Amino acid sequence: MSAKKRTQPRKKAAAARGKTKGVDPKLLDVLVQEAKAVRERAYAPYSHYAVGAAIATKRGSVFVGCNVENASLGATICAERGAIMQMVAAGEREPIACAVVTGDEEPASPCGICRQVLAEFAPDMPVVLVGLGSKEGETGRVVALADLLPLQFRLRK
Ligand code: THU
Repeated sequence: MSAKKRTQPRKKAAAARGKTKGVDPKLLDVLVQEAKAVRERAYAPYSHYAVGAAIATKRGSVFVGCNVENASLGATICAERGAIMQMVAAGEREPIACAVVTGDEEPASPCGICRQVLAEFAPDMPVVLVGLGSKEGETGRVVALADLLPLQFRLRK
């Protein structure tokens, strides 16, 4: 086997490790299961687009959120922000990974406001994105939050 062929898979494995930031893949699977379950409870009578999110913390907790829409559409809260609110209200502030599940064929990516809110507490955590709607079964990918939201806004303390 040529040297080039041998180095390619190693590069891929290193890239995957880079994206999961050392978080146990089993924990990422748990987050996906939790996000799927909470997605079932989404309140989305206007868009009919249900989203579930789950966040794991350094302390070992998992917090979940689903989208909650409102007749005044701008009052809608996204799933990711719901999960973050639960985490903070429970006294925790150190998320280490997040999963977001939608019914799309392709995994959907968090909206801009949610990216900023997630980044407040973990600027570069791994985010697992899963779409349940494909005929071939669900599709997923892992992205680093810093890649989703580069040049994050921060206030100088
Ligand atoms: N939504 C989320 O829950 N998370 C996102 O990151 C993007 C959008 C929700 C809001 C609304 O209830 C529905 O998806 C359609 O925009």
